[in-house]
Amino acid sequence: MGDTFASVYGGVPDGTFVAPGRVNLVGEFTDYNEGFVLPTSLPLAARAFAARRTDRLVRVASAQDAAAGVFEADLADLRPGMVAGFPAYVLGVAWAFAEAGLPLVGADIFIDSDVPVGAGLSSSAALECAVALAFAGLSGLDVDRVRLATLAQRAENAFVGVPCGVLDQMASLLCVPHHALLLDTRSLEMRQVPFDLESAGLALLVVDTRVSHDLGDSGYSDRRRACERAAQLLGVKALRDVELADLDAALDRLADPELVRRVRHVVTEDARVLDAARLLDRGDVEPIGAILTAAHESIRDDFESSCAELDAVVDAALGAGALGARMIGGGFGGSAIALVRASSVAAVVDAVERRFAAAGWQPPRSLVAAPVPR
Ligand code: GLA
Repeated sequence: MGDTFASVYGGVPDGTFVAPGRVNLVGEFTDYNEGFVLPTSLPLAARAFAARRTDRLVRVASAQDAAAGVFEADLADLRPGMVAGFPAYVLGVAWAFAEAGLPLVGADIFIDSDVPVGAGLSSSAALECAVALAFAGLSGLDVDRVRLATLAQRAENAFVGVPCGVLDQMASLLCVPHHALLLDTRSLEMRQVPFDLESAGLALLVVDTRVSHDLGDSGYSDRRRACERAAQLLGVKALRDVELADLDAALDRLADPELVRRVRHVVTEDARVLDAARLLDRGDVEPIGAILTAAHESIRDDFESSCAELDAVVDAALGAGALGARMIGGGFGGSAIALVRASSVAAVVDAVERRFAAAGWQPPRSLVAAPVPR
């Protein structure tokens, strides 16, 4: 048996704090352009088992990284760059609380997560959010989930050093079962949109290509910088401010064909999110399939953030009868989703596996998504 809270620290934790991974139905690369996203949570989650300490130490250990042992730091000594790997996500959250003037108690924290790392399913956000819940809970702080999400994002941006948007942390803390979260990432206004797959006889298949993606890689931040440059050239605060009706005129003003493609993706993607939410509001789940596929094509051709394995999942899934499919997350690897009739899940999985085998790639990992109750 692997490590547990008791085997590492002795005793029992004061609480267990849980935060799930996510899939984003549509709205990719829109969060750092202050646009819209539509995520839903996964039945995979990070758990933080945590106990209060009487001193100012934070100790962290993880079931997934037993070899790393216990990392220990004083709350007074936290600074970006002091540690890499999973302890950085935990201590980064403590650091973000301190930066925001929220007083923390010392804690022993043991992490156990079944969200695969590098699969584009927000393993980092799940970890940060479980830890944020733990710190708030142990320290008796009344901090709402939206603020916890922004603290978790701050930890990732400034302590871990990854320039992500707020999609993953908001999804992890705010998604509720049988719904997708329509979130305006500028105002953080949000609404739960019904997303009841079971009643529609549908399933959401998640296929992890096992091509590991890392948001620290240059592709993600290059795209982000290109979007910021385009917004500047167009004289708007963020690309979210370019209306779909004005898109052609905006594109005419950009000389660089690469920026034209990036802007076209972001502006049409925001529109796809709102279209998908409108359909889901009416209980029309099947027709969002076409929106998912259009989003994938836009990411593949205009945002150029897909990869051969992700394209293969989408193509094989559609060929086997999926209603729609697309890559999700930061791009260049990780996972794709496919909206399928419940009766054709096995056929779609089989088609994807055969495609990978024929290409000589390692077998993908598939799971059927259903949200975890929080
Ligand atoms: C990653 C980031 C998010 C978001 C997506 C792309 O998941 O963490 O903030 O930018 O990529 O939509």
